[in-house]
Amino acid sequence: MGKTLVLGLMIGTLAIAYGCSKESSGTTAYSLEDFDYPMSSTDVAAGTEVFAEFCEGCHPGGEEGDGPKIAGEGESPSELRWKVRSGGDDMPAFGPDKISDANLESLLAYALTIGAVAP
Ligand code: HEC
Repeated sequence: MGKTLVLGLMIGTLAIAYGCSKESSGTTAYSLEDFDYPMSSTDVAAGTEVFAEFCEGCHPGGEEGDGPKIAGEGESPSELRWKVRSGGDDMPAFGPDKISDANLESLLAYALTIGAVAP
């Protein structure tokens, strides 16, 4: 009985510590619904520049590099926005300080031309 209680407390403490360390990592937790709105830019030229600066290194021309191929994957606009803002396993997150909302929309306009997004 006593041992079970101690073990339970330890697991609880670990869970809390883990939860806190996740929260204090500085990344904002976004949900897909936050990004569910229509595409608002057709500025492919600006989007190409944003892609070249922030994405090209790992997704060269939308093809496989350090990251997977994204061209032709046809993700929804909300999925792509979410991915950029949230990052992933080996993909950094890009907050509005790096890619403004307006630039994110331009990025989508470019992504449309390589089929990485499908509205
Ligand atoms: C440092 C390398 C790196 C950079 C820079 C990067 N990515 Fe990624 N990306 C990855 C990796 C690795 C994955 C796969 C793992 C994951 O989903 O987190 C990925 C996954 C993705 C996916 C999901 C692909 C799928 O099939 O699930 C999309 C979409 C994507 N990246 C778009 C972008 C965009 C747009 C940018 C620029 C704003 C970008 N990435 C910048 C490395 C990168």
